[in-house]
Amino acid sequence: MGNSKNTVKIIKKGRHIGAQVEGVDISKSIDQSAFKIIEEAFVENEVLFFRNQQITSDQQIKFAENFGKLSIHPFSPNSEKIPELIIFDNDGDNPPFGTDCWHSDETFREAPPMATMLHGLIIPEIGGDTVFASMTASYEGLSDKMKNFISGLECIHDFKPFRALFGNDEKSKNELRYFEDLYPPIAQPVVSKHPISGKPVLFVNPQFSIRIKGMAESESRTLLNQLFEQAKIPEFQFRHNWAVDTVVIWDNRSVQHYAVHDYFPARRKLDRVTIKGQKVIPFTKADDLKLIKDNKSPLPYNQKGKHGGHSPKRPLERKL
Ligand code: SIN
Repeated sequence: MGNSKNTVKIIKKGRHIGAQVEGVDISKSIDQSAFKIIEEAFVENEVLFFRNQQITSDQQIKFAENFGKLSIHPFSPNSEKIPELIIFDNDGDNPPFGTDCWHSDETFREAPPMATMLHGLIIPEIGGDTVFASMTASYEGLSDKMKNFISGLECIHDFKPFRALFGNDEKSKNELRYFEDLYPPIAQPVVSKHPISGKPVLFVNPQFSIRIKGMAESESRTLLNQLFEQAKIPEFQFRHNWAVDTVVIWDNRSVQHYAVHDYFPARRKLDRVTIKGQKVIPFTKADDLKLIKDNKSPLPYNQKGKHGGHSPKRPLERKL
């Protein structure tokens, strides 16, 4: 199969997030016009998957490099030969560390990765799905009052779960200090602006977001817990069921993910690479006004809606 814009087909699989790409052979080079279609679909659908891709790690890396330079995870055990590559090879005796938790990758870094790509190598017969949540839809689903309240807020992100990887001996303590210097707790906007779509994104996740700046600990905890709930709303999610040789890429700037740990004792093996991102951009009130002016933000629902007067005020509003 050649890769040209005439062969690429994007098939939406979820209303707000998730699409399948057909007509692309990742093992071969992709011309610019075909890649443009993939790139646009990536930003619009936030998660793309490609079935039946019999590729090597090198071919995966080459395909990922179309999106940008690869990054190296500071804490994960990387492949010895290729530090950009992480091999997840897990089973009941070796469960993965910290992936069964809602998160965006490495938001404790000033410039978190823009995307993550996985290639399925060994897939359990039952279980082992990855669930994704659109944080664009999650933001849109908040009430106007909440959007107003969180506008301009910042949240501290910290690599806290990875602290557990360091021992208590002097060498480990020194190593931890090294990483603390390299990645001090960092303030990120609670609402970020997607650098390509310009859309607002709810940018807090339970793995790395620890405290809203300027709020009391209990206020911050209550607000964060409330915001973390958004990713759990099924309407904002896409659940990916793996098969061998499926490749998935997600937009880490607007997506959280959760690896479902329900396949043990079976084995699950995937190759993983991440693509470097940029500093997170805050979404401002001026951006909001511009979105409304450009009519890109859904306007309040027609109050004469159906469902016995129970239709939501906004298309993505959900009552928890
Ligand atoms: C991850 O959190 O990057 C892993 C996702 C998965 O194993 O499905």
